[in-house]
Amino acid sequence: MIEKHLEDFVRGLMFPPRLVAAIEYGLLGGGKRLRPLLAWHSARAVGGDGASSLRACTAVELIHAFSLVHDDLPAMDNDDLRRGRPTLHVYDGEAMAILAGDAMLSLGFHALIDHPEAGLALRLCRELAAGTEGMIAGQVYDTLGGLPDDAPEDRRLELIHKNKTGALIRASCRMGAACGGAPDDSPAMAGVTAYAEAVGLMFQVVDDLLDVTQPRERVGKRTNKDATSGKVTYPSVMGIEASWRVVKDLERKALGAIAPLGQAAGGLADLARSMARRDR
Ligand code: IPE
Ligand code: IPE
Ligand code: MG
Ligand code: MG
Ligand code: MG
Repeated sequence: MIEKHLEDFVRGLMFPPRLVAAIEYGLLGGGKRLRPLLAWHSARAVGGDGASSLRACTAVELIHAFSLVHDDLPAMDNDDLRRGRPTLHVYDGEAMAILAGDAMLSLGFHALIDHPEAGLALRLCRELAAGTEGMIAGQVYDTLGGLPDDAPEDRRLELIHKNKTGALIRASCRMGAACGGAPDDSPAMAGVTAYAEAVGLMFQVVDDLLDVTQPRERVGKRTNKDATSGKVTYPSVMGIEASWRVVKDLERKALGAIAPLGQAAGGLADLARSMARRDR
């Protein structure tokens, strides 16, 4: 259902055909759809219907795809492989990759603003804006630095990861929970948020681990790159074993946060377990 909603959204775009083709390439080609799945299962975890989150699912995947297309650009991580295929700027040039990313950023919000419940649309846009802004701030820390020099290294690492990756995952979960009917100040929203903060950080720790432990054929992007690019990562700061221990701790934390939600949060619990064990 998520995949179909994404495809239908792209098919309805009134844009120059070459731009639509570039968006299709960046958005629809592969991808684990993890953020949409988090939104979907967050809606269910608070007692709602997964399908109520479909607009949110499309919105977060659009922002995520934009972040990947720009993350791969020569001025950023300068990558030539993404989701098992040439990156968008390799496929269709830098100008189109920049513009398709710009378009997906705007479209992410567009996917929400025609929600029939205006109050909910506003809440979703606010969450998505916070997630997107956190991601961009994190990308600045990751790419250009700028964190306080006096912060200890593990604290800086956490700040980079919580922003560049955690913020959009947090938004995905909170948007899903909002679609599922949880008020902002409810215990259910607090549980989902605490879960999201734990899995958001965990996701990037695992991503860093995959960079040093998996071949590129497995993950569909170049690996063994973070060290040569001088990235501050969990394995580079604390080693592989200790990084897996952090993953395990964060998994426990995530599961604990949603325990009060009972069986309804089964989907989120399964997702946390698989995110802690993924190899791609
Ligand atoms: C990759 O995200 C970028 C990070 C934030 C670590 P994913 O691993 O979710 O990428 P796709 O969407 O499955 O390609
Ligand atoms: C990217 O982190 C986070 C984003 C906001 C896109 P990485 O640079 O580690 O992601 P990959 O490894 O290229 O997917
Ligand atoms: Mg990067
Ligand atoms: Mg990258
Ligand atoms: Mg990475």
